[in-house]
Amino acid sequence: EQEEAGVWYDGHELAMKLYHHLLVSSPEGRKAREYLRKRGFTKEMIERFQLGYAPDSWSFLTDFLQKRNFLPRDMADCGLLALRESDGRPFDRFRNRIMFPIWDKSGRVIAFGGRVLEADDKPKYLNSPESQVFNKSRLLYYFHGARPAVKRKNEAVLFEGYVDVISAFRAGIEHGVGALGTALSEEQAKMLRRNADRVILCYDGDEAGQKAAWKNAEILKKSGLEVFVAALPEGMDPDDYIKEYGADRFADTVIGQPRTLMEFKSVYLRRNKNMSQEADQLRFVEEMLIEISRLPKAIERDHYIRRLEEEFSLSYDVLKQEMKEHVQNNV
Ligand code: CTP
Ligand code: MN
Ligand code: MN
Ligand code: MN
Ligand code: MN
Repeated sequence: EQEEAGVWYDGHELAMKLYHHLLVSSPEGRKAREYLRKRGFTKEMIERFQLGYAPDSWSFLTDFLQKRNFLPRDMADCGLLALRESDGRPFDRFRNRIMFPIWDKSGRVIAFGGRVLEADDKPKYLNSPESQVFNKSRLLYYFHGARPAVKRKNEAVLFEGYVDVISAFRAGIEHGVGALGTALSEEQAKMLRRNADRVILCYDGDEAGQKAAWKNAEILKKSGLEVFVAALPEGMDPDDYIKEYGADRFADTVIGQPRTLMEFKSVYLRRNKNMSQEADQLRFVEEMLIEISRLPKAIERDHYIRRLEEEFSLSYDVLKQEMKEHVQNNV
């Protein structure tokens, strides 16, 4: 593995430089430059994140790598090229896409995410296939770059997308990383835990994003992190928010004043409920009691029971009794 891996890293490094060059200063890259400009990407962001452009060709990278004596077999093994099923001939996996290099913990490029330029091209993002060096569940986007800031602030911000990490960086949030996919692994949680005590989840303000935030919050908490959840308006992601309301408001409000995990749960459990209806109110109270029963400290449990007592004019004793039954179920 080690021997091959050297060639894989070199291939990726070279591809990154080539794609970047094409984006920044070739005629083929004009459309992609225009696209990024319209989305508000600055030169600095394009440089820092070494964004690139894969041209609309089946053989561009293939020819380039072959001229440099990289074996097609190696380049297909590491996911840079794909092989035609009929005759095994190599071809460019990424065509007409904005390229986001993905680095490992030590800052070596090991994969790419490629985004389409036109809204109706599919899939929107094409990622490198997993390989011995690219294991999605062991890696966070931009971790190697964000790590010093994560340590310094004793806090990490976790985003869903590449663009969110990049936009947030420009908004002054330098300790942001991205999960490549929705379900966080224990390993990824540990990467964060080893570098900080706190984490802020900043996921898209849609059903899928909030659901993923809920799931990931549990995994992060289990690893011993104190978890906060940033609140975004319905249907907006961090990049949308920054575009709409500006960097300062994003940094000061969304990241600066995140919800505690229980506040987030209290908001999340109201989603898809009609809280003016008694049945849904009771369902909500029941679900909250389950969450409250899982809190380790009696004083915390008491605090949140009192909140339910106030909001829904329910009897404290009944709420407490009900909650206790869940505590028994937990053990
Ligand atoms: N993703 C993916 N494959 C897809 C769609 C999404 O791998 N077909 C991953 C990407 O890492 C993406 C993240 O999930 O960044 C979040 O998806 P989404 O919110 O749909 O995209 P955005 O990051 O908002 O991208 P953009 O703003 O460019 O549309
Ligand atoms: Mn450059
Ligand atoms: Mn999303
Ligand atoms: Mn998004
Ligand atoms: Mn987006």
